[in-house]
Amino acid sequence: MSKREHPSFSSRIGFILVTAGAAVGLGNVWSFTYVAGKNGGGGFVLIYLLTLAFIATPVFMAEMLLGRLGKASTPTSLKKLQTSAGSKLPWALPAWIGLVATILVLSFYAVISGQVMAYGWEALQGGFAGWEKDQIIALDKAFKADPSVPIFWSILFLVATAAIVSLDIRKGLERASRLMMPVLFVMLIGLVIFAVLRADFGAAFNFLFGFNEMQLSPKILMEAVGQAFFTLSVGVGGIMLYGSYMGDDVNLPKASLWIVLMDLSVALLAGLAIFPILFSANIDPAAGPGLVFITLPLAFSGIPGGAILAFVFFLLLTFAAITSAISLLSPPTARLEEAGWSRAKSAWVMGLGAFILSLATTLSFSSWADFYPLAFLGFEGMTPFDLIREGVNNVVLPLGGLAFALMVGWGLKREDVRAALPMENGALFSIWYGALKYLVPIAIIALFLTAIFGGGH
Ligand code: TRP
Repeated sequence: MSKREHPSFSSRIGFILVTAGAAVGLGNVWSFTYVAGKNGGGGFVLIYLLTLAFIATPVFMAEMLLGRLGKASTPTSLKKLQTSAGSKLPWALPAWIGLVATILVLSFYAVISGQVMAYGWEALQGGFAGWEKDQIIALDKAFKADPSVPIFWSILFLVATAAIVSLDIRKGLERASRLMMPVLFVMLIGLVIFAVLRADFGAAFNFLFGFNEMQLSPKILMEAVGQAFFTLSVGVGGIMLYGSYMGDDVNLPKASLWIVLMDLSVALLAGLAIFPILFSANIDPAAGPGLVFITLPLAFSGIPGGAILAFVFFLLLTFAAITSAISLLSPPTARLEEAGWSRAKSAWVMGLGAFILSLATTLSFSSWADFYPLAFLGFEGMTPFDLIREGVNNVVLPLGGLAFALMVGWGLKREDVRAALPMENGALFSIWYGALKYLVPIAIIALFLTAIFGGGH
């Protein structure tokens, strides 16, 4: 273990912004719209909202609390808490699984972020202004056809992420988040206004919130729950690590609520900006992971000054992706540091691991597009990318969340949990604690039973 003191953030608002930066990312813009579109809209969105509010948010707070109590890397924090709780169960195990999962998430995250960066570069050269739909679709195809192009951009993204993690520039991140986050909000609101004025807003609204015609299936259920966990970054210990950096003066429930609200509003704004454009341009909502790379350029192609706006937007989205990627690379880095490695070496080695794994995603968009390695187990039509994304989001994250909820709800003493949360309101505490003890475990177990017996994968 290193002898230096465990770091912490300089201010409450700094903590909230940096943790919101970890939550807000491609999940809100890219995956929310692609997965909602693929799963038929309304029913998916409803389950997503319910899970976000009643399952993922309580788990988010539980992770922050475990970090506040543990104040170390995630496996070490949980090991400590296991000892003090006198439990025989392997508390560190979900944290170890979480470390593997963060690198798997980072592997596909880097590929998608790479395409976001490439589109920013295209816009910087005047791209997208006045483009037709076919031209935009052709660009997406061309980008993916030759793997060397996405590989180049993924490397650039991972190098930026690893460099930031290895330099540990927390202060700089706080300052940058303070500026970029509000600008991203304003741009998204601008895009929604454009969509109201110029695109099929009504169709989009019906698709996303038309709960009366909604479709539901075990598969849609899994995807919606997975998306709620993914967007809040919970289930792998990433939030736990940030919680361990949190100053003791931070009101944990209040901070969590702010972060969840920011995250939710970015997703809803992105949905309300992207789906109207999609319906007016007759694009299939189930188009898949390339969805935003067609709809977003299409929005900017029709706006005066579109190229420069597109550049700013893709730049902001790149920044949002980097702040999320940092939260993915940090947990394994923190663990390796405890093992005596330098911070820089830890970050670069893990970044390299993510790069090697990222090739599976890159190839899934080109020569492996029809390669379904687990078809013999019934996972028909799923590329390596689909398997990694759905396996981690829909299975690992909810199970990790279940483990963290059980630790706080059943493993730790109620007084200790209460004492770590000097929040004013006792009633709110009881509701949250009750949710962790009963609602979250029952809901997650019911979800898996439905998936197993309802045939959802
Ligand atoms: N929540 C981020 C997003 O929406 C992605 C992310 C960051 C994440 N850290 C995570 C997802 C940990 C799962 C687990 O883009």
